[in-house]
Amino acid sequence: MDIASLARHVLDSHHTYLHDALPRVDRLMHRPGVITPLREAWSVFVILVEDHIVLEERVIFPAIVDLGEGRRVADFEPSLEGLDRDHRLIEECTRIMHLLTPDTGPLCRMLPQFLFNMDEHSRIESEVLFPQALELLERARRSSDTVFEPAKVAEDIAFVTPPLWPLWDSRQP
Ligand SMILES: [Fe+2]
Ligand SMILES: [Fe+2]
Repeated sequence: MDIASLARHVLDSHHTYLHDALPRVDRLMHRPGVITPLREAWSVFVILVEDHIVLEERVIFPAIVDLGEGRRVADFEPSLEGLDRDHRLIEECTRIMHLLTPDTGPLCRMLPQFLFNMDEHSRIESEVLFPQALELLERARRSSDTVFEPAKVAEDIAFVTPPLWPLWDSRQP
C-alpha cells in the first residue's frame, strides 16, 4: 500500500473508531464504581490523545498525503518526533489501563477492545507510517525541485483550535 493510501486507511479505520468509541468509553469511566487509578489513567490518556489527534488530522496526515502524492510540503520531521513521543506515553497509559480493566460490567467488555485498537493504531503510525514519511522527506530534501517551508508547520499548528474538534464537542454534557 502506498503511503497516501496507508494514511487514509489509518484515518478511515483507527481515527474513525477513536472518534466514535472514546466518548462512549468516557461515559462509562464516569459511572459510579470505577476505581480511581483507572479513572486517573484514563484522564491522562484523554488529554494526550486530544491534542495528538488534532495535530495528526489537521497538519501531519494531510502533509503525508501531499508528500506521498508528490506535492511540496513543509518539513514536518520535528512534529513526527513529538507524535512518536506521544505514542510512547499513550502506550504507557494503555498498559496501565489493561492491568486495571475490571472483570465485570460494561468496561470489562468495551475497554480491552478500545485499548487494543489504540495500541495497533499507535504501532502502525510509529513503526510503518512515520518511518516511511521520514524516508520520503529525506528523499524530497535531496531533490532539487522540492521546496520546504519550515515555518508553515508552526503556522498550521497555530490554527488548530481544539474546542472546534468534533471529539471535544461530543464530550460536552
Ligand atoms: Fe493517529
Ligand atoms: Fe498517533
